[in-house]
Amino acid sequence: MGAGALKVLVIGKGGREHALCWKLKQSPRVSAVYCAPGNAGTALDVQNVVIDQSDIRGLTQFARREGIGLTVVGPEEPLVKGIVDAFQREGLRIFGPRREAAELEGSKVFAKELMRQAGIPTADCRIFVSAPDAEHYALSREVSLTVRSRGRSSVRNTLHCRTAGEALEAIDRIMDPREMQAPGVQVEIDERGRRRTFASAAEARDFVLGRPVGLVLKADGLAAGKGVFVCNNLRQALDAIDQIMIRRVFGQAGDRIIIEERLDGQETSVLAITDGRTIVPLESCQDHKRAFDHDEGPNTGGMGAFSPNPIITPALMEQVEREILVPAVHALKRARRPFRGVLYAGLMLTNQGPKVLEFNVRFGDPETQAILMRMRSDLLDVLEAAVDERLDRVAIQWDHRPAVTVVMAAEGYPGHYERERPIQNLEAADRMPDVKVFHAGTTLRVEPGPGRESRVVTDGGRVLNVTALGDTLEDARARAYEAAAAIKFPGAWYRRDIAGRPPRAGH
Ligand code: AMP
Ligand code: GLY
Repeated sequence: MGAGALKVLVIGKGGREHALCWKLKQSPRVSAVYCAPGNAGTALDVQNVVIDQSDIRGLTQFARREGIGLTVVGPEEPLVKGIVDAFQREGLRIFGPRREAAELEGSKVFAKELMRQAGIPTADCRIFVSAPDAEHYALSREVSLTVRSRGRSSVRNTLHCRTAGEALEAIDRIMDPREMQAPGVQVEIDERGRRRTFASAAEARDFVLGRPVGLVLKADGLAAGKGVFVCNNLRQALDAIDQIMIRRVFGQAGDRIIIEERLDGQETSVLAITDGRTIVPLESCQDHKRAFDHDEGPNTGGMGAFSPNPIITPALMEQVEREILVPAVHALKRARRPFRGVLYAGLMLTNQGPKVLEFNVRFGDPETQAILMRMRSDLLDVLEAAVDERLDRVAIQWDHRPAVTVVMAAEGYPGHYERERPIQNLEAADRMPDVKVFHAGTTLRVEPGPGRESRVVTDGGRVLNVTALGDTLEDARARAYEAAAAIKFPGAWYRRDIAGRPPRAGH
């Protein structure tokens, strides 16, 4: 193919996709970059195509009609739905795993079973297909409680309970309304010498369900990042089972549920590109998942990122490659689900070494924004090598300077937020040296009136990903914050501690 002759299509509409478009456009071999459906940033930097990211047929038709030479998929949903299979059936080149390999993210049960077979370190877990079984298991957690009756109860015994379920049964026996208890019967619960008395079964049950346990409940399928419940007590665990399996808030994604041990340690991730035979790790990075400073508040899609990440030492990277990435790629190959694309391992660094929390089968968002800012090599070369199974001949060149991405969010995010807020000063921020403002939740609105000029307005919770390079991490951070401070839209806010301190232990 001659110079500058290749057309590229990027699928998705977030900051990750804007960064992919921006980087691919720099390739001397690329003649045009399209983004479907894209956002205001991709509309300004490349060309948007009005096709939804889940419209696989529409995307295939567009790629064929336009003669797209390479398609790159941002989000997991089209991958799990089989967009790569559909493109390949048409003879179209596309970067990403096929449906069967994308199950690694599409089904947490599949991922767990694969990890078990391949001996990949991860939290111990049980899998359930029915709510009563899941509840029974949650209630079989060890507690050390002694339940006694107080007052003139017909149940006289002292009941030593090893599990929460046994304690609840004991309470029911003592307070059973059919036993015609004399007035004033109470339950006493002794927890390691500390005694409490309860006048009603409801209060006593509530106490038992409030005992601390470290359980994580996960809906099997895709749930837009909301299907994981990290529970501190049994009440939360039972509530998660109720939401996933009874109220079915994630639909079919909740047909199966995983209950696993809560892991303690520092949370991080490792991303690698693979063609199914060779694994090329990307530069280390760290995202910040919690909404507010000091890692407080609810989980979000990510409030910022930085690269490199000093906690991922070369030795740790090597260990992750050896114990996690290589066995995962090998196991998928053996299962006849060869994996090609980005393998993203979400990790907990525990006392016993790194353990996998989850696998993703795509670029991380917002990690990609920071990582691509540092990539010196032509991204097209790397992605094409992965598609053509010749990654063994690729060495990615990196800028040694660190990069920091600060996510500017809409007022109210991650709860309810308004859209259509005009954004000011984007160009000024973008013009700062070594700064790039990637758009996430933005769109272009055409002004009424004769000029019909368009302006950028907010169109999502995470609005902009302000990314900067610097000689040191502190320098990159200062530049990113300086650029963020210059950009204005009503209600804009961002975390002030991105890349400030290593995030607190994940829990
Ligand atoms: P996942 O989508 O599986 O990564 O889960 C989302 C978040 O839940 C992770 O980023 C962790 O913060 C947390 N999490 C998941 N599994 C565990 C676990 N076994 N122990 C502690 N935290 C977990
Ligand atoms: N930053 C987390 C993710 O992309 O899943």
